[in-house]
Amino acid sequence: MAKASAASSANPGAFAESGADLELVGVTKRFPGFTAIEGLDLIIPAGSFFALLGPSGCGKTTTLRLVAGLEEATAGRILIGGTDVTTMRSYQRPVNTVFQSYALFPHMSVLDNVAFGLRRRRITDATSRAHEALRLVELDHLAQRKPQQLSGGQQQRVALARAVVNRPALLLLDEPLGALDLKLRRQMQIELKSIQQDVGLTFLHVTHDQEEAMTMADTVAVMNKGRIEQMGAPEELYELPRTSFVANFLGQSNLFTGSVVSTGSTSIVVDVGGRRIEIPRERAQRHAGEVTIGVRPEKLMLHTTAPDPHSTINVVGPGRVTDVSFSGVSTQYQVAVPGLGSLVVFAQNMVFGPVVSSGAEVWLTWSTDHGFGLADDPADSPRFASDTDTHTLAVQRRESLEAELEEA
Ligand SMILES: Nc1ncnc2c1ncn2[C@@H]1O[C@H](COP(=O)(O)OP(=O)(O)OP(=O)(O)O)[C@@H](O)[C@H]1O
Ligand SMILES: [Mg+2]
Repeated sequence: MAKASAASSANPGAFAESGADLELVGVTKRFPGFTAIEGLDLIIPAGSFFALLGPSGCGKTTTLRLVAGLEEATAGRILIGGTDVTTMRSYQRPVNTVFQSYALFPHMSVLDNVAFGLRRRRITDATSRAHEALRLVELDHLAQRKPQQLSGGQQQRVALARAVVNRPALLLLDEPLGALDLKLRRQMQIELKSIQQDVGLTFLHVTHDQEEAMTMADTVAVMNKGRIEQMGAPEELYELPRTSFVANFLGQSNLFTGSVVSTGSTSIVVDVGGRRIEIPRERAQRHAGEVTIGVRPEKLMLHTTAPDPHSTINVVGPGRVTDVSFSGVSTQYQVAVPGLGSLVVFAQNMVFGPVVSSGAEVWLTWSTDHGFGLADDPADSPRFASDTDTHTLAVQRRESLEAELEEA
């Protein structure tokens, strides 16, 4: 049997022994009257697990369809393993896709589903390869069952085995875990990651679940309106978001806008509604004028008495707790601080239950090291950047209700 590396061949009868690089150069996709992807540049190194993360409609599926050859780019080039595949037909590309709806053949056994593609290509050891792929997803013992005799998660794994069995140099996964319940989803995330490590192929995984992207991928690209806003290792993106979109889409952030009042060699100080907030200079994208700065909710500490100010912490308060949501391991507090707005605090439950209740007067502190400064022009972004996740919508609705109550 011919085995070929992805770089040397786009022959669909060949198997890749390792993953291939994927490179997008200035890729644009225009639909009549709508630009879905705008000048996308992207390099995904061979053998990596790459996640494309973004809200609904930002262009994730379109990107995958372009790579798979199911959609034609309006401009730009696509290279797989160094070979330009831009004009190559879909079936000639060394790519397999796992879609959200796994579309197994209902009348065929699990084994036949997995072996189907190999048999069609007249691969002689199709059956043994299919068993091998099923062992990888720990389903070989159910090889003779029909898809409807499997749970949703097991069917998902069959779909994965069916894609992996072809050893595509590049495996595209479009929200493949979307149909699963939370627990199964977490379990499959770990399995998928270990399968990727076992086979060493390149995985491009599309999701709108930020936790999923962060737990699985080596590199996460956050996509917004057909563009990549920021790309990097999960910790890097989380700890140092560059834009308000990333700061709010990947986890939650407390963001403030103010003017830089002093710039030192290691830090900058921003006046926010008369309060001075210091952040490290190297964590700030802008060093002068109006800037938006932020801090993650778990970096904040709650105090019920005024803390002594000192040079390594920022202190704000007093403010008032407006909401306490207990979630088992942690509690989320909303704290209204005059001049700053509503801040979110995540605190580990070190004692039984929340430490303060709604209505309490509190102060907040955080280490000056933990702040970050965004690249956005504050004039272009609202003070609390719009984020349409359901939590934010709920918070916004409650805030407007509170404002109405105060007026009444
Ligand atoms: N054939 C088409 N004609 C016109 N517009 C399209 C077409 N296909 C997709 N679009 C538009 O392109 C944008 C991106 O669509 P895409 O399917 O890539 O989004 P997505 O990021 O995968 O979203 P979701 O998370 O909801 O799956 C959407 O606004 C969509 O309406
Ligand atoms: Mg999609």
